[in-house]
Amino acid sequence: MTQNAPSKAVKKLFIKTYGCQMNVYDSQRMAEAMGAEGYVLTEDQADADMVLLNTCHIREKAAEKLYSDLGRLKPLKAEKPDLKIGVAGCVAQAEGEEIVRRMPLVDLVVGPQTYHRLPAMVRGEAPRIVTDFPEEDKFDHLPERRATRRAPAAFLTVQEGCDKFCAFCVVPYTRGAEVSRPVDRILREARDLVDRGVREITLLGQNVNGWHGAGEGGEWGFGRLIRALAEVPGLDRIRYTTSHPNDMADDLIEAHRDIPALMPYLHLPVQSGSDRILKAMNRKHTADQYLRLIDRIRDARPDILLTSDFIVGFPGETDQDHADTLRLVEQVGFGTAFSFKYSPRPGTPAYDRPEVEGNVSDARLQELQALLTRQQKAAQQSMVGRTLGVLFEKPGRIQGQMVGKSDYLHSVFVEAPDAQVGDLVQVRIVESAPNSLRGELA
Ligand code: 5AD
Ligand code: SF4
Repeated sequence: MTQNAPSKAVKKLFIKTYGCQMNVYDSQRMAEAMGAEGYVLTEDQADADMVLLNTCHIREKAAEKLYSDLGRLKPLKAEKPDLKIGVAGCVAQAEGEEIVRRMPLVDLVVGPQTYHRLPAMVRGEAPRIVTDFPEEDKFDHLPERRATRRAPAAFLTVQEGCDKFCAFCVVPYTRGAEVSRPVDRILREARDLVDRGVREITLLGQNVNGWHGAGEGGEWGFGRLIRALAEVPGLDRIRYTTSHPNDMADDLIEAHRDIPALMPYLHLPVQSGSDRILKAMNRKHTADQYLRLIDRIRDARPDILLTSDFIVGFPGETDQDHADTLRLVEQVGFGTAFSFKYSPRPGTPAYDRPEVEGNVSDARLQELQALLTRQQKAAQQSMVGRTLGVLFEKPGRIQGQMVGKSDYLHSVFVEAPDAQVGDLVQVRIVESAPNSLRGELA
């Protein structure tokens, strides 16, 4: 007599992603790699067979946040002893063994350059902690891109690591030296994404515009890569992040002038408006050089929306330095920007430098953020009355409503009962809300 074989239960994977878009992409790729092992994603941590925390180390309290999240997993692990707990990302890279020493409930620790080994680690065929910088390219060992979730906008990593060594930043240590992925792999991944319904790709890299590689006719820069991607049929929109001002080559600026698929949006961190502080930060450019660069970019694409990152309270920052930052912000007029209070990161050159008093930094941060919020409001308000392309990414909470991104990356809510996710439509903007726009089908 034959018995029905017990159906092999699907295993469920819960991933929590901290930090940057690079990590969002890495989480997707890890989910795909684990998909090949029979894991499907769940949104419910309590229901998971495996919990993976994909960490970020760039600012303060990253490790503390990880340890407190791990502490909160203790009851779940006690209830489900087979639950696997993994730590990935830059804190995994930086802390390594310390994580399992402090939190023995952690089953595996995997760095950003080795996550292709995650399936083998889960099967017990690789060490419990893998945080080296391997010779092999992890992308060669990951499964082909498959639809884990149908979405019309996707990330694609083209470059990793950073050689710039800004004095405050851990990235050169956690993500390692700059590496560019080869042209053919990038084009193939882009075509695969388009084949599964993607219409917008955001190219990712810690220093994305430093990308270079051998292509047809010789060495290509990032602008040339964008030109090649713009020729992929069905790829309607291209974005990229994050860029360094010193790598904004002429070819890339010209791409902003010539290529309609390259969206009029650029995130270009400047960090400070004071030459003294920029020098102490090892940024290798002055405020004036940044301003002249912005002029050239705006000559090429007058409507481009610029965003940036700022650090306030960097060691040695005076009131005058802070005033210089505010002046630069006034001069540029940003669409939005991220601003952070400086936090000393162990192992970075600025770590031991005397800190600015906490309440001084807090006050400066408030002042800068108030100015940036005013600029964000003005930029959004300037969209009202204009007709813009919007790519619908998901249904809104209200019946018949769709939410998408405009060319300028604003979220736009639109009444569109007959529309589908993935439609790219013309929308007339009618209202600006604090963090989004409202529009009507044009
Ligand atoms: N303290 C505060 N902000 C930091 N950033 C990077 N390192 C630090 C630090 N030690 C910010 C920078 C960078 C962004 C990703 O995070 O502004 O551009
Ligand atoms: Fe960090 Fe500077 Fe490299 Fe950006 S450019 S990742 S801030 S070291």
